[in-house]
Amino acid sequence: MSTSTPLLVFAGSTRAQSLNRQLAAVAADIGRDAGAAVTHIELADFDIPLYNADLEAQGTPRDVVRLKELFFAHPAWIVCSPEYNGSYTALLKNALDWASSPVAGHPEWQDGLKPFRGKVVGMLSASPGALGGLRSQSHLAPLLVNLECWLAPKAFALGGAASAFDANGQLVQAAHQERVRAVVEQVLWAAGRLHAPA
Ligand SMILES: Cc1cc2nc3c(=O)[nH]c(=O)nc-3n(C[C@H](O)[C@H](O)[C@H](O)COP(=O)(O)O)c2cc1C
Repeated sequence: MSTSTPLLVFAGSTRAQSLNRQLAAVAADIGRDAGAAVTHIELADFDIPLYNADLEAQGTPRDVVRLKELFFAHPAWIVCSPEYNGSYTALLKNALDWASSPVAGHPEWQDGLKPFRGKVVGMLSASPGALGGLRSQSHLAPLLVNLECWLAPKAFALGGAASAFDANGQLVQAAHQERVRAVVEQVLWAAGRLHAPA
């Protein structure tokens, strides 16, 4: 059922050695292994300014529209959320805020929820700390629900992440790999059913 489901994977960090970017790469590989059509994006590749309604009034940036299009095109998402001060990053919030902001008068994007509604989202996080960024997920969850996403019940917070990956970016512990796999597979399973043709 999950075969060829379009799966979008991204992390809320642009740091070169980002643990969450590494985790996103692992999740993307797992998605491909499961037969999903994976699109793994980097927020660094999107030229998105800090949200400002006055700026927006001059025209929604092209890369915001590109992000809306990508969100809309993928029924299943994996989001890898770093934790800053017990919450998710400003980078992630800014991207989601822009993507959810209606484009006045635009035939496709005047509905701000359109890129989000009905998406099945699996949350992952990674942190050097013991809780693995779990608190970022607790803040991200209501934001996503507010945007009418469906959250997968399974989620995973990778604690001690600074030593969790090998030099090739693979997870060292099989148990961690299985936790990520469980989230990805549940997201694909649910998206396959929720988005099945009527
Ligand atoms: C401003 C700031 C606040 C942070 N707050 C937390 C925190 O509350 N909990 C936590 O586990 N790690 C915290 N960290 C550490 C991050 O988890 C760590 O830098 C992590 O590597 C960031 O994710 P990334 O590797 O994907 O960029 C914080 C880091 C910064 C820069």
